[in-house]
Parts: sequence; structure tokens; C-alpha cells
Amino acid sequence: MMLWLVLLLPILSVTSRSISIDHRSQSNTIADRIIELVTQGEFRGVTYNRLAALVDTIGPRLCGNESLTNAVNWVQNAMINEGLDNVHVEEVQIPHWVRGEEHARLIQPRNAKLSMLGLGNSVGTGPNGIQAPVLVVRSFDELNARCGEARNKIVVFNPQCDWQAQPIGCYGPVVGYRVGGASHAAKCGALASLSRSAASRSIDSPHTGVMEYDLTYPKIPAASLSVEHADMLDRFQQRNQSMEIFLYMEAQTLSDVVGYNLVAEVKGSTLPNETVLVSGHLDSWDVGQGALDDGGGAAISWTVLSLIHALNIRAKRTIRCVLWSCEEFGGIGGDQYFTAHQNEVPNMSIVMESDLGVFHPQGLQFQGRPEAQQIVTTISKLLTSINATQVVSGGGGEDISKWMQHGVPGASLLNDNWDYFAYHHSRGDTINVLNSTDVDLAAAVWTVYAFSIADLDSILPR
Ligand SMILES: *[C@@H]1O[C@H](CO)[C@@H](O)[C@H](O)[C@H]1NC(C)=O
Ligand SMILES: *[C@@H]1O[C@H](CO)[C@@H](O)[C@H](O)[C@H]1NC(C)=O
Ligand SMILES: *[C@@H]1O[C@H](CO)[C@@H](O)[C@H](O)[C@H]1NC(C)=O
Ligand SMILES: *[C@@H]1O[C@H](CO)[C@@H](O)[C@H](O)[C@H]1NC(C)=O
Ligand SMILES: *[C@@H]1O[C@H](CO)[C@@H](O)[C@H](O)[C@H]1NC(C)=O
Ligand SMILES: *[C@@H]1O[C@H](CO)[C@@H](O)[C@H](O)[C@H]1NC(C)=O
Ligand SMILES: [Zn+2]
Repeated sequence: MMLWLVLLLPILSVTSRSISIDHRSQSNTIADRIIELVTQGEFRGVTYNRLAALVDTIGPRLCGNESLTNAVNWVQNAMINEGLDNVHVEEVQIPHWVRGEEHARLIQPRNAKLSMLGLGNSVGTGPNGIQAPVLVVRSFDELNARCGEARNKIVVFNPQCDWQAQPIGCYGPVVGYRVGGASHAAKCGALASLSRSAASRSIDSPHTGVMEYDLTYPKIPAASLSVEHADMLDRFQQRNQSMEIFLYMEAQTLSDVVGYNLVAEVKGSTLPNETVLVSGHLDSWDVGQGALDDGGGAAISWTVLSLIHALNIRAKRTIRCVLWSCEEFGGIGGDQYFTAHQNEVPNMSIVMESDLGVFHPQGLQFQGRPEAQQIVTTISKLLTSINATQVVSGGGGEDISKWMQHGVPGASLLNDNWDYFAYHHSRGDTINVLNSTDVDLAAAVWTVYAFSIADLDSILPR
């Protein structure tokens, strides 16, 4: 430990006039103590065990469901017992979509159950279901070209992407069909829309997620299909075998309910009017356990406060943990929090959200001015012993995007998440996909950045 600290001093002193990460700073030794606490000390396994207890006991936490409120209460009580500062909830108005019973069957060319999950916000089919012939398209362009053929059919979107080559990069292009497919199909007179799951790997697992209607067109039911079943339907069409599907969904949207963002802090010592915000979202889809998306991000953000509290230290600035409510329906809790707190834009040094996995950590994704990224890069040297020193441009998160649009620097956890979209929004999102050692390291990385930025001489340049 001492060796790399000595080696580091020349690098750090270059910027020590503008920032406080130098040999006089408390950040170097504190980073070591944080890493030691999670790798060998009393915090080893704590974050994973807390998360496992939460997701085993409460289960998945769909927006509008009582389980989400139960999770907020569960974590809030634990935070109060721990003695964190300013633990409280802030109300959020939350949409209340319910899945109800649902199933899909292939009727022609053979009778078979299809692996499906209704999409959040979708309407239901009505009590009689919908039985119709099928048109498979691979893109919106193909649908537009064959629009006339879609009338009174169930449209199946089967977008292709090389997920092996770009396991994260395929999500954006593919998820567009989940989100917007139904209204595109409705524009052509389709009766329902099914979309290939936005999944990097599949063992016949459907992956749900939110969809949105363009109110210009009728609202038709929308569901995802497993990759295997989308491809099978595509092959039937290529062979000119005519298909018929029966779809039944009881999905509906009830009146909004009250939910809660959960907030806790460790107050700053000398600049408590300035804040570093760390966060993850506590809500999840209603399948699996929501351990990966985003129990893990919520858990490491909570641990930031726990570690600093356990070390009985304070940074200059306040470190605030916010566990968002209802990210999955479009950053609902994050947006309402911003609206209520936007007078704090000048006070916010950085907003951080971890929502892309807590696998083996590699560093930080950072979005901000080059001067700020330079400072963050200097801090990253504190993570040399655990090889998490990468700082790459980009990052952010649905719940912190409004702050970033207003010029506040933003960050997310850079981690070895190539397998993230194998589990995301599916029954496979359970605590089993996470590794306790890696979750500990992720919590340490998150904490070292939050503490070090909170302890700089000045707020990050913007
Ligand atoms: C919460 O989810 C459970 C399990 O799906 C369901 O039985 C219950 O009706 C839901 N509650 C609300 C308020 O949606
Ligand atoms: C399917 O039908 C189209 C149009 O009639 C035809 O061009 C194509 O060769 C057929 N494909 C097969 C595999 O029969
Ligand atoms: C933000 O900073 C201003 C100026 O120091 C201060 O008056 C205000 O109370 C701060 N807001 C918070 C939430 O700390
Ligand atoms: C916070 O307070 C300090 C002095 O107490 C002041 O110098 C600083 O500008 C304030 N920060 C913000 C963002 O207003
Ligand atoms: C350190 O992490 C990088 C990825 O961030 C990886 O490519 C490299 O192999 C790692 N080095 C060691 C020694 O584990
Ligand atoms: C968990 O991660 C650690 C450190 O990255 C690794 O050494 C260990 O083999 C992993 N455990 C399992 C069960 O994969
Ligand atoms: Zn998420």
C-alpha cells in the first residue's frame, strides 16, 4: 500500500493546487481503509447479504405495488437503526400498471405455448383475447414497406443485432421495438404487437420492460417474446407457412398511487450546503427478484453511507444517498425529485447512479467538462490496488439525467457487465447472478469516488 502511495505523489501533486487529493489529504488513507473494510474487514459480504435479504424477503418491487413500499420501509428502518443522518422519504406520484393473467399460444402451424411477458403500460386484450394471423418484420422500415399486410394481424418485431459483438450496444437499437412497436403496428391496422426480447442471451426467457403509446393511434396490446420464439416465427414466415396466434392479457393501468424516494445522508463537515449524490433505484420489474436491476445499485449506494459512517469520518460536503422509486416506467421518482430540488443545482457537485450492474468494477463512467474528468482521473489512482482505475466518458442514469441536462457532472459505475442483458427484466434477475466479492469491490469503488469528490477543496468544475 505504502509503495503505490509514494509512487502516486508526483502524479497527484501536479493537480494539487486545484484539488485536495495530495499527501495532506485524508482521501488516500481513507480509500485504503474503505478497500480494507470490504475485502478483509467487518464489511466483507455486508452489501451482498443485505441485498439478498431484501430481495429474498420482499421479492420484486413493481411500481405501484405494495412490495415497493415494503422495500422502502425495510431499508429505511435499517438506515435509521444504523444511525445515518437525515433518513426520510419524499412522496412520488407513481403509475400503477398491473399485469394480471396473460398467455400466448401458437395455433398454426402447430399448437404450442409461446414464452411471453406483457410490457409495462400495455393495455389488455379484453376477456376474449385476440386470435389473428401473423406478420413478422425485422425493422420499422420493413413494416412501413409491408404496412398493408399488417392490417388485422398480430405484428411480430424481430430486430437483429450482433449481441455477441456488442452485448451492451445492441440494447438501444433493439429496445426501440419494445418501446414503440405497438403504435407503429397500430398505425398499419394491426391488432397486437409482439417484440423479440432485448436480451443478449436466452434460455427461452422473455424479457419485459416499459412500452409507450403514441396517442395518435389506437392502443393495442404489447408483449415480448423469447428470442427463440421470435426466431421460430420468423422462420415460419420465411418458409411461407401461415401462422396464427392467440394472445390473452389482463393488463391494465389503475389510478396513480403514492410512492417514495428514500433519502439518507452523511452530513458534510465544513460545506454541508454542498452535496455529492449517489443513487440506484429500488423498484424493479415484477419477475425475478430485481437483484441486478437495480437492487445492486441501490445496495452499493446505501453502503457508501454505511462505510463512511462506520469509519466515523465526514467529508467536507454532504454525501446523500437517494434510492429512487419507479425508474422502470421512465425515471418517475428521479424526475419528481429533480422538480422538487432543482434549486439545488448550484449545490450539487456530482450526481451518480449505478444502474448497469454491480459486476467486477473497472472504474467510473463520467460525463462532465474535461477539467472535471481530469480531477476524477486523479482520484481513480486511489483504486490502483483493486485495479478499478479506468475513467471513460459517458455514463449517467435515467434518474439523474435532469441534473446532468442542467450542467451537473454525472457518473455511473464502470463494471464488467457484458452479461447484464442476459438477465435484465427477466425471471433470471436474481441474487444468484451477482458475486459477493465483486459487489463488495463495487461498493468500495462507489464509496471512494463519492467520498473523494465530496472532500475536494472545491465543487467539481462545470
Ligand atoms: C402486487 O403484486 C402481487 C403479486 O403479483 C399481486 O398479487 C398484488 O395484487 C399486487 N398489488 C397491487 C396493489 O398491484
Ligand atoms: C415464399 O413466397 C414468396 C412469394 O410468393 C416466394 O417468392 C418465395 O420463393 C417463397 N419462399 C419459399 C421458401 O417457398
Ligand atoms: C445551497 O447553497 C445555498 C448557498 O450556500 C444555501 O443557501 C442553500 O441552503 C443550499 N441548499 C442546500 C439544500 O443545502
Ligand atoms: C456553501 O457555503 C460556503 C460558505 O459557507 C460558500 O463559500 C459556498 O459558495 C456555498 N456553496 C454554494 C453552492 O452555494
Ligand atoms: C485490470 O482491469 C482491466 C479492465 O479494466 C483489465 O483489462 C486488466 O486485465 C486488469 N488487470 C489485472 C492485472 O487484472
Ligand atoms: C467472484 O469474484 C471474485 C473476484 O472477482 C473471483 O475471484 C471469484 O472466483 C468469483 N466467484 C465466483 C463464484 O464466481
Ligand atoms: Zn434499472
